[in-house]
Amino acid sequence: MSNNSSENSPRILTSMANTGIEGDEALLLNPENKRDIEEMGSSQNNRNSPTANIIEKTLYMLSKHWEKRAVVKNDKSNDAYQACFDNGKEDYNETLLPFYHHPHWQSASKEFKSHVLSWAWIIYNQKTIHIEVEIINPVLEAIILEKIPGATDYLSKKIASETYVDETYHTLMAVNACNIVSVERNLGKIVLPEYDLIFSQKKVINEQNDQQKNMLLRLATASVSETLISSYLDVLSKDMSINSFCRMTIDAHRKDELAHANLFTGIMKKIFPNLSKEQQEYYLSMLPCAIRWFASKELRLWGFVLNEINFPNHREMLSEISELETKQIDTIDYSGPVKLAEGLGCDIASYFHKNDLEIIH
Ligand SMILES: [Fe+2]
Ligand SMILES: [Fe+2]
Repeated sequence: MSNNSSENSPRILTSMANTGIEGDEALLLNPENKRDIEEMGSSQNNRNSPTANIIEKTLYMLSKHWEKRAVVKNDKSNDAYQACFDNGKEDYNETLLPFYHHPHWQSASKEFKSHVLSWAWIIYNQKTIHIEVEIINPVLEAIILEKIPGATDYLSKKIASETYVDETYHTLMAVNACNIVSVERNLGKIVLPEYDLIFSQKKVINEQNDQQKNMLLRLATASVSETLISSYLDVLSKDMSINSFCRMTIDAHRKDELAHANLFTGIMKKIFPNLSKEQQEYYLSMLPCAIRWFASKELRLWGFVLNEINFPNHREMLSEISELETKQIDTIDYSGPVKLAEGLGCDIASYFHKNDLEIIH
């Protein structure tokens, strides 16, 4: 990677709204914190840049509050949540199913629907596990191991390590959440095929066989996933109609994600100026691809599960749904990655339009 350290990030991190942190300015003005920031600060050549300082401060504030806010540090989840398991409620919101409107789903028996909704919970949590393990954590490891220029300083490694602990704990929460629902609902075992997000990233990595491009691709997929996951978790975390155990588990994860949501937005501002023009373009070009992969309705995977549990007429149902698929993404709010990309000071419209995606804010 080149050492082009030009200041091309005119936008600054102005919002801490997602962190749940209050009184940031007061904390930043505290001389003790100021000294901490300077000691932990970024590479020497960035230290005098006002933009770089704001990025450092934002990352510092995320790290400063980690001990107090991280679920892993304050968890009561497993036992407390399991005690709230509500057998009388469904484990997932049926309106989120990709086949919710189809007549075959609408006419299915209540028992069959409940069974499918428990599987939907498993599919949803297994996707979370794969995102944490195969998308986010490999990039955090690369930062911790100083493999990504621009993010090799102590603060970057510290916050990457803290987030790594968060994500690993979310994985444990999701593993437990799958197990509890599986046992309570007597689901049996289905080995799920690969999710579109994971499959698509692996396919590009294997095809291009280029270490530097693969790291940029991993950075793009992680940036997108990390800025989309809160929105992925949002609906279920507020849904009082579903099993309280499921809602509470998702809500704990969502709060953690909101708290460290600015990590990739901030850290990419440190990495991006260290990339060559070609590398920057490649990174930006992969963002809309990763959005499409993340937003997949996973019909292939659903076909596999519905087949295993003998859901009546599932092939016809899924084939009719895939025919109705539009290019418009209506399953997820992708304004987060748009904000991240615009924050890098680049015109991203052409990259998004090439993938039939509108810029949304
Ligand atoms: Fe997470
Ligand atoms: Fe996260």
